[in-house]
This record gives sequence, C-alpha cells and structure tokens, in this order.
Amino acid sequence: MKIPVTLNGNKIILDAHADETLMKVLHKNGCTSVKSGCSGGFCGACTILLDDRPVASCKIPAGIVRNSDIVTLDYFVKTEEYITIISGFQKAGIKLCGYCTAGKVFSAYQIMKMPKMPTRQEITDYVKALSPCCTDLETLVNGIIYAIQISNKRQKRT
Ligand code: FES
Ligand code: FES
Repeated sequence: MKIPVTLNGNKIILDAHADETLMKVLHKNGCTSVKSGCSGGFCGACTILLDDRPVASCKIPAGIVRNSDIVTLDYFVKTEEYITIISGFQKAGIKLCGYCTAGKVFSAYQIMKMPKMPTRQEITDYVKALSPCCTDLETLVNGIIYAIQISNKRQKRT
C-alpha cells in the first residue's frame, strides 16, 4: 500500500504492507539511525518521533502512520534541542555507545517538553526501561536534568 507521510521534513509516499513494522519500512528508506534491537518495544534502539512523540517503531504497523510526521535521529541531530540534550549528557559524563541513542535522546526530548519541571523520580520512572548497558540510570537522569537546566538558561536569554 502507499502511505503518505512527512519523513524528516519531506513529504514522501512509503511503499509498505499494512502490517510491516515502521522500523523495517524506515530502514528500507535509508534511515540508518533507526536500529533493530529487542523488537519488543523495550530497548529504545528503534525510537523515532511520531507526531512529535517518541515511539518504538518496531511496535508500529506501517499502515497506521498515514499523514503522520516522522522524525528520525539522523535528522534530529541538526536541531538545537539535540545540542542541548547532548550538552546535558556530556556534563553528566555520559558516553553513549550508540545502541539505543535514539531512545535516550528522544526520551530526554519528551521530558524537556513537559510543562513543569518533573521530579527526579518522575524522570527515573520515564527512562528506567531503556537499555542501561552503557549508562547507569542515575547518570542518565543526571544528564536529563542538566539538559533541562541548559534549556531553561537558553530560554531565559532569548
Ligand atoms: S527494537 Fe524497538 S524497542 Fe527495541
Ligand atoms: S546508547 Fe543505549 S546502551 Fe549505549
């Protein structure tokens, strides 16, 4: 079936079976930052933004994304939000191995968009399911808090 979407700012038509996972379809369309991991919606390796919300693309059937706005990490890295998140991660001493960078970055992005400052416990609850391999949970939460602080400082300046 033909599925019109906006992928990384471009209006395109995806050619896919309705029940094919969005992860597979994005691979076929050259989005190399969408990684295949657990295929169960847990690890975060395949995370994308679907209509500005992080989702595990391995759990999304391509047939339901008609007219959606899809952003993958390879495009998101050009944004100011990404630079802010990575600055926060660096301040916390986080060195991502690459396996689930998309899950960690897009989770941080979603938390940064919350209307009021989340508590440390709320941030922990949000990210605790992500693969901890290269970053322990406490350090990841520190990185997200630093990113929020950097973002708040930038907004005060503008
Ligand atoms: S591959 Fe999709 S969440 Fe792990
Ligand atoms: S980036 Fe996820 S385990 Fe390293």
